[in-house]
Amino acid sequence: MFKEGLKGIVAARTKISHIDGEQGVLIYRGHEIRDLAKSLTFEEAAYLLWYGYLPSGEEARELKIQMSSNRYISQAMKDIIRHLPVDMDMMSVLRTALSAEGSKEYSWKPTIKQAIRLTAIIPTIIAFRNSLLEQKPFNEPNEELDHAANYLYMLTGSIPSNAVVNALETYMILTLEHGMNASAFSARVTASTESDMVSSITSAIGTMKGPLHGGAPSGVIDLLNLIGTVDRAEMVIREKLNKGEKLMGFGHRVYKTHDPRALALREKLLESSGADDSLDLAIHVESTAIKILEEIKPGRSLYTNVEFYAAAIMKSINLKADLFTPTFTASRVVGWTTHVLEQAENNVIYRPKSEYIGEL
Ligand code: COA
Repeated sequence: MFKEGLKGIVAARTKISHIDGEQGVLIYRGHEIRDLAKSLTFEEAAYLLWYGYLPSGEEARELKIQMSSNRYISQAMKDIIRHLPVDMDMMSVLRTALSAEGSKEYSWKPTIKQAIRLTAIIPTIIAFRNSLLEQKPFNEPNEELDHAANYLYMLTGSIPSNAVVNALETYMILTLEHGMNASAFSARVTASTESDMVSSITSAIGTMKGPLHGGAPSGVIDLLNLIGTVDRAEMVIREKLNKGEKLMGFGHRVYKTHDPRALALREKLLESSGADDSLDLAIHVESTAIKILEEIKPGRSLYTNVEFYAAAIMKSINLKADLFTPTFTASRVVGWTTHVLEQAENNVIYRPKSEYIGEL
């Protein structure tokens, strides 16, 4: 039986996450994502994925220490990054720099310690490269700050506001993991040959880099820029829909109701409403657009997807569009490493067949 793109084929049995697109549910290790996003930090959510259970206070503290002490990248890695062509995109920089991390300590079998190290250095690689491109001094990691706050600190050199850290951290928790998508699959395929954790993650980064997977927020950012202020939302949205254009950041292939990640982000942003103009604008645009979509496209169940709020958050923290997919990678690496660990537990090498349709 041939299924293009392996659509609908079950390629692994997993205890990591579950997606129900009809009900709009996403579960990590038995816990609904909306509950997790309300109460956990990035490190606690990563703990849940890696270890399979929610950490105690002591376990969470221990993981934070391990994450922050693993943030530093070597001089050799900095030299490699420095010598890469200036026009190399950030995903390629990440893939290349991470390859340089591969050595004996990453040999089979993969471990949680390796997962922690790779997760801890990705923001540092991004921020270091970004400082070179912007010709600014690099802000070395700040051990006082948690993962998401430190990422923003390294990028900007200042301690970010709570509203902004909460928004980014919630986005990162919600995008840690999403089932057997193309990048998780490629990580598992590489791991299934008993290759090392670094090779599995570089495979996944190469897969995430493709525009059909990693996504581009620019469409949503363009929409929010075009709207500009709350009072223009309805007019711009109607104009676009009347011209037959699609509204960027709305609709989803899998979720035929609310994308639970977008809902959770919305809830989080509402908590700090009034603190940031671009986040407030996004909340207003969402409710206006949903109302008008239901009027113009009744019954199509068009709601906000996670890209919408991701873009709004990126805009509010002034993250350049080319840092969007790398930032997504900084959270998704937790899901990939968890898939690699699960694959290794009960490993069978992936070896599907192809059907020959050429000349005989
Ligand atoms: N704005 C306006 N109308 C939309 C829409 C949007 N964002 N998304 C879907 N529709 C409409 C389609 O025009 C179609 O209308 P019709 O029945 O009158 O022809 C109907 O809803 C079904 O759309 P379809 O393209 O078949 O849905 P899909 O499930 O195949 O596509 C997406 C899903 C994500 C590709 C689609 O919703 C989209 O292009 N969204 C905008 C881009 C985006 O945000 N991408 C990021 C996704 S994570």
